Amino acid sequence: RRFSTSAMRAEAIKCVTVIGGGQMGAGIAQVAATTGHQVVIVDQSEDILNKSKASIHKSLQRVAKKKFADDAKAGEAFISEAIDRVSIQTDATNAVGNADLVVEAIVENLEVKRQLFTILDKAAPQHTIFASNTSSLPIKDIAESTQRMDRFGGLHFFNPVPVMKLLEVVRIPQTSDETFNKLLAFGKNLQKTTVNCKDTPGFIVNRLLVPYMVEAVRLLERGDASTRDIDTAMKLGAGYPMGPFELCDYVGLDTMKFILDVEWLTLRPTMQAAGVSITEVVHHLYNTALTKMKRFMPNI
Ligand code: CAA
Ligand code: NAD
Repeated sequence: RRFSTSAMRAEAIKCVTVIGGGQMGAGIAQVAATTGHQVVIVDQSEDILNKSKASIHKSLQRVAKKKFADDAKAGEAFISEAIDRVSIQTDATNAVGNADLVVEAIVENLEVKRQLFTILDKAAPQHTIFASNTSSLPIKDIAESTQRMDRFGGLHFFNPVPVMKLLEVVRIPQTSDETFNKLLAFGKNLQKTTVNCKDTPGFIVNRLLVPYMVEAVRLLERGDASTRDIDTAMKLGAGYPMGPFELCDYVGLDTMKFILDVEWLTLRPTMQAAGVSITEVVHHLYNTALTKMKRFMPNI
């Protein structure tokens, strides 16, 4: 037993390459660095990478202020140790040479993600595990661009990564038990609570959250209430920290659009052919769900 524990430790994920240093990539890199991992962030330009490091620094200051409220010196050490563990690179193929794990957090576009992983698959060592932080794309469709589907999975983080405690860990049928267990262990090392989910559209959170956000848009489109009142209603009436419009902004309207394009493609390809809009599709899904619920709860 002692032997297997030390063997597992020897194989634990230590070096992490995060591709994409935007709001999610920077957050993932930050959390990996504060939990003792060596991190390389890759993005398209030095300029973006410098902004990414600056945002990590700012966020670390917020964390340190709370974590080391009575010990400013320890707070400074916490920040500089984390920053020292993060390096930046514009060449993705160079950046994966030492990686135990690659976490991809680039634009929500299947073809761009597939092109990236095709290149990384040739450059990364055999043992390197690949994971995507996609919000809505099937992990299988991304993984098929590689020859290592057994070493592929989904690690879906939530925004802002340093604050949100959840990590969805997603496996495809080809993901090996060893890979899946390493992804779960990595999540725990990041001090996240992990939940497991199959490779199903939107996984757990977005499958429930995105239709809610789109229904808020629908409510506005119908002229039933203003954005301000909808946001206030959900914060004060449902206890959500942000209203749906604030949350759309926070996730990023570009990313929201990409997610909706994908949900649309995944869930209603025939309706797309008929030229029906995404809000109509979501409305239809919502009404179908309501009809089903009414069977069990006739008073709603
Ligand atoms: N880095 C570090 N710390 C941060 C931070 C960051 N980026 N953002 C906020 N914090 C900390 C603050 O320092 C603050 O700490 P204290 O409590 O010690 O003061 C705490 O978090 C609360 O922050 P604020 O007081 O500034 O503001 P707030 O109370 O409104 O909280 C929030 C901000 C945590 C973002 C909160 O509004 C919230 O939880 N919003 C909802 C977020 C959400 O739903 N995320 C999921 C989006 S969906 C997704 O991610 C999946 C997808 O695929 C699209
Ligand atoms: P973002 O636009 O803030 O960052 C994306 C970064 O990727 C940019 O800095 C861009 O320059 C870089 N990039 C794009 N193509 C690249 C390439 N080929 N090589 C290297 N870098 C490249 O986006 P984000 O909000 O961080 O989202 C990133 C991913 O995480 C998306 O798949 C998104 O769906 C997912 N996600 C987003 C959220 C959210 O709330 N925003 C939450 C969970 C998951």
